[in-house]
Order: sequence, then C-alpha cells, then structure tokens
Amino acid sequence: MIDIHSHVLPGVDDGARTLEESVEMLRLAAASGTTDIVATPHASPEFTFDSQRVRSFYRELSDKCKAFISLHLGCDFHLSYANLVDALRAPQKYTINQGKYLMVELPELVAFGSVREGLNQLIRAGITPIITHPERNMSLQHKRDELLRWVKDGCLVQVTAQSFLGRFGPAAKNSAEKLMNAELVHFIASDAHDCVDRTPDLSAAYKYISSKYSPERAELLFISNPFCVLHGEPVSSNLPRESKISTLFALSK
Ligand SMILES: [Fe+2]
Repeated sequence: MIDIHSHVLPGVDDGARTLEESVEMLRLAAASGTTDIVATPHASPEFTFDSQRVRSFYRELSDKCKAFISLHLGCDFHLSYANLVDALRAPQKYTINQGKYLMVELPELVAFGSVREGLNQLIRAGITPIITHPERNMSLQHKRDELLRWVKDGCLVQVTAQSFLGRFGPAAKNSAEKLMNAELVHFIASDAHDCVDRTPDLSAAYKYISSKYSPERAELLFISNPFCVLHGEPVSSNLPRESKISTLFALSK
C-alpha cells in the first residue's frame, strides 16, 4: 500500500516526537504492508512549516529507513490566506515530491465561497488539491454537495482509514461511508500521528474496504491512485455518475 498522509517526521508538529518514534512508526507501516509513505507535516496556524528543517529531518529519516520503506515528502497544508499566497509563490515547497499534488486541510468552520475561490486559485496555478478527511470536518459532513462542486472543479478527496473503523466517532464513519457510496473518495490514508492510537497501520481498513465494497476498490484507493500521486500521473477522478449524484444530494440533507 501507499500512504499519502502521515505525521512521521520527528518534532515538527503533533506527530512523532523523537527520531526513535518516527522509525518505530515506519517499521509498523512496513510490517502492515505499506511500501511507500508520504511525510506530511502540518503547515497551520499552530505549526509553522519550516521547509529547510523539514527537509533535513526528511533526509535523515529517509536514509535511516530506506531498507524497509520508501519515504516521500509533502505537507498537510492548512488553507489559510497566508498559506495560499505562499503556495502560489512557491508550490514545490508544499506539494508531494515537488509535483502537482497538494494535501489541503480545511478549517473546521468552512467559509464555502472563499474556500472554493482558494482551491480554484491553486487549480489555475497547476496544483491539484487533495482535500484531506472531509468526513471529519463538521461543516463538510453536512455539505457533501459542496464537496462535489470542488471535485468537479478539479479537486480530489482523501478519507482517513480509521474513520471507517469508528476512531473518529459515528458521524465521521457515517460520512465516510456516504462519500464511498457517492464515489467521492480517491484515496484512503492513515494520517498517522503515533504508534498506538493514530497509527500508520492501514491493513484493517484495507480489509474492511475490500470486503464491504470490493477488492478492486481497495486496490484503487490504497495503491493505484496513491501511486499516481507519487509519480505525478493523472488520477482518474471517477466523477460520480448522474445516478449517484442524486443519491449524494439526498444523503446530504
Ligand atoms: Fe494530517
């Protein structure tokens, strides 16, 4: 599997605290079947994204673990005005493997008009925003029609693996399943922060998706689509079929 969202770099945000913990997280990821993982430290009002510091930790951790897992670099990019301006100025500071894909985290209280405009500014600059865990965002849980608009604009959607297993409560699980039924999920990733609670082990979620939906769907969301992101290839956006769109709107009410 390929995990495009994790907080495995040590001491840069609320993820791994030490290099030892980072290595332990990567060992756990590898042992559970992950071959590649993207380190996506927060760039948010709470956590400054110091690109030089991040790159230096990334190189150190990558070297230490290259025998058992491939580490890649991206950012968990909070969509604030200051961040947006900086990403438009220097997109490769934040994008995955300095390519075109950017993980975008939205504020808990979403101002839909400004967010859509911000996302479209990124798209016009050649960046493909990947909206991270909308199922955990209380504003978006009830506004899936808005998410559909953003996907039609050119955004993609990543859901957190543990949301399907109930870690973030019934509302997030319910929203994750509705997004799956509406074919509005392009990636499932761990958003791992540690080795105990929010871990990088994707295996249980992979099994769940495989049996509840289909093995092909699991393969697409955990392997094929993330592979395209790592290599800068287009991801099939699987826009919902018209029949699914009416379901989506009904479900979002
Ligand atoms: Fe995250």
